[in-house]
Amino acid sequence: MPVLVDIGTLVTPRTGARQGELALLPDAAVAYRNGVITWLGAQRDLPASEDDGQRVSAEGGLVIPGLVDAHTHLAFGGWRADEWARRLAGTTYVEIARAGGGIARTVALTRAMDDEQLLARAASFATEMAALGITTVEAKSGYGLDRETEVRTLHAYAALDRRGPLRVVPTYLGAHVVPPEFRTDRRAYVDLVIEMVAYVAQRRLARFVDVFVEESAFSANEAREIARATAAAGLSLKVHADQLASGGGAELAAELGAVSADHLERISDAGVAALARAGTIAVVLPIAALWLDAPSPPARRLIEAGVPVAVATDFNPGTAPTFHLPFALTLACVRGRMTPAEALDGATRIAARAVGMEADIGVLEPGKQADLAVLDAPDVEHWLYHLRANACRRTLRGGEVTWSA
Ligand code: NIG
Ligand code: FE
Repeated sequence: MPVLVDIGTLVTPRTGARQGELALLPDAAVAYRNGVITWLGAQRDLPASEDDGQRVSAEGGLVIPGLVDAHTHLAFGGWRADEWARRLAGTTYVEIARAGGGIARTVALTRAMDDEQLLARAASFATEMAALGITTVEAKSGYGLDRETEVRTLHAYAALDRRGPLRVVPTYLGAHVVPPEFRTDRRAYVDLVIEMVAYVAQRRLARFVDVFVEESAFSANEAREIARATAAAGLSLKVHADQLASGGGAELAAELGAVSADHLERISDAGVAALARAGTIAVVLPIAALWLDAPSPPARRLIEAGVPVAVATDFNPGTAPTFHLPFALTLACVRGRMTPAEALDGATRIAARAVGMEADIGVLEPGKQADLAVLDAPDVEHWLYHLRANACRRTLRGGEVTWSA
């Protein structure tokens, strides 16, 4: 079976440990069979039974679990650089949205793409993400909003998952905004979302349902209805909460038993306490916070309160137009006061929990998928401190090399 050898240091979070408690193993090797780790340890202890001569060299690099981006809006049409320029000149995100820009504009551009274009666009992003050491990505719909384009987006994610290089965890985000054609009848749109939840669940097109809870998007009561439909359909819930205004979104996510509450730039103390009590995972998105010039992600407050904190990109054409997850991790340290070790944990083990895949990925140990990134860095601190365009030399997903520098 194949073995990854010549690992300078292998670093991995540990199952059940406190966030940021990493195991370090110098001069290590990892053996795997059929994509699953069978053995890891000091290379000098590599058992002959694990080594059939098929070796891949890490060339002395730092090996971490494949990165997991637990929050992206991966498939969309067009870009919105002109809106960004207007925001830089003082117009706000909400003002642009009210004038017909923002999410609604991307919806129009996404509806205009055919299936092949949708898939090709997302696939081109996925290829670049794999080169950064990413092996799994959560991907939301929400730029179709009509029945047909939402389903086409989720089919594109299924196709992308099959073809690689990333594992794709699909989320139905019909509750992103009320689309223009329903503006005079919100009720009918919420009913459509509820119907779609059952539809995508029956066809296994999504694992999660996400609701954007915000004055410009969906109310707490609308979210409660969608959450009931989600539970009835056997899917899990995520909530975009407390991003643009402090509106009790985190408390709501806790009340509804969401797996994660995402964004949280404007979370209240009561919201932090509610997430801690409910065991909800917080997903902080420092790139979106930076691009909106919003308050820093409250990562330190959350960790001190005992909330597990995942770090993700939020990759989307409006608020986070880059998928550079290592950059998000550096920002989570600088602006969110996480330690580099906590940040790595937040983009591996805890991110895996946030996408419901903790049984298979996020930690390097026998029985888990051989999802690994080889970094040209001496240790985790140095990797995030000396943030390079790309420090990743090699990425393996399920033992397959998906990127080689
Ligand atoms: O996560 N918050 C809602 N959705 C996105 C923004 C989407 C957009 O502007 O296109 C976000 O920030
Ligand atoms: Fe988002």
